[in-house]
Amino acid sequence: MSHTIAIQLENVSKTFGRRRKRVEAVRQLSLEISAGQVFGFLGPNGAGKSTTIRMMIDLIRPSAGNILLYGRPVQNNPSLLRRVGALVEGAAFYSFLTGRKNLEILARTRSCYDASRIQKLLVQVDMADHADRKVQGYSTGMKQRLGLAAALLNDPDLVILDEPTNGLDPAGIQDVRLFIRDLVEKQGKTVFLSSHLLSEVEQVCDQVGIIHNGRLVRTGVVAELLSTQAIIRLEVAPLERALGLLLPKWPTTANGRWLEVQATRDEVPEIVQQLVAAEVQLFQVIVQQQSLEDLFLAATGGTDA
Ligand SMILES: Nc1ncnc2c1ncn2[C@@H]1O[C@H](COP(=O)(O)OP(=O)(O)OP(=O)(O)O)[C@@H](O)[C@H]1O
Ligand SMILES: [Mg+2]
Repeated sequence: MSHTIAIQLENVSKTFGRRRKRVEAVRQLSLEISAGQVFGFLGPNGAGKSTTIRMMIDLIRPSAGNILLYGRPVQNNPSLLRRVGALVEGAAFYSFLTGRKNLEILARTRSCYDASRIQKLLVQVDMADHADRKVQGYSTGMKQRLGLAAALLNDPDLVILDEPTNGLDPAGIQDVRLFIRDLVEKQGKTVFLSSHLLSEVEQVCDQVGIIHNGRLVRTGVVAELLSTQAIIRLEVAPLERALGLLLPKWPTTANGRWLEVQATRDEVPEIVQQLVAAEVQLFQVIVQQQSLEDLFLAATGGTDA
């Protein structure tokens, strides 16, 4: 990973409205993101993800604080923003024009028209077959794919994607995931994406930041954040013997034919080994993924920050 800092947020706040209608959408958010990685910005609905992204591309201004991309302030800096490609919520296209025509117009307004590049991007986002249909007939997922192509028209160094897999089916999500990894690994780009899905962030991001009620509550390497406690469910027989074996080391409760063990994912092999060595029969092992809510609770200590 290079040591270039692609994104820097310094004490960024954004307040909408006044008095009783006042909403503190983003509160004193500081963040530094190195180039050459996929950074996931994770948070539930209304957490402040889109607001932060809009500020990062100078669509709206922070109420306080600074935003720098590649070390330079983003405000009123069109030449800097030329290095950035973005997909924001509800990308708007001309519905009476084809997907291809929309991309052509966008490319011309950004002075980066190149018909062969447009075709290549359409293929990459798997929209080549639909490119010459009018956007009004597109599904949500198709519009999302077109939006992704639009974000890459100017061959940006930094790609900012607000919930890029919204509206995509499982195959589409997988496509986009691979596509994003490719951008970083093969093309050397930096990707900042937002999501409210832990599973999505887990599979594609190198690092994540968790945002909750406008505050950044945690940042770190994905694996580290997820290595915190999980519930391991085991269907075993005989139950009592298994319980006796595990209890000294892990908080364990019995529930019907199942044991529920509080442990980390990394400890699963050890748990299984102990049971097998004691000739406990093991029918099923289910590692219950910590939900995003659990992670927030752990990160915020249960308080509504
Ligand atoms: N233009 C606006 N005027 C007033 N309030 C706003 C405006 N934009 C956002 N907000 C408020 O700011 C908060 C954060 O909204 P934001 O859209 O950034 O959340 P988000 O994390 O993107 O959520 P989602 O997952 O639903 O997209 C919300 O309470 C929202 O109602
Ligand atoms: Mg949003």
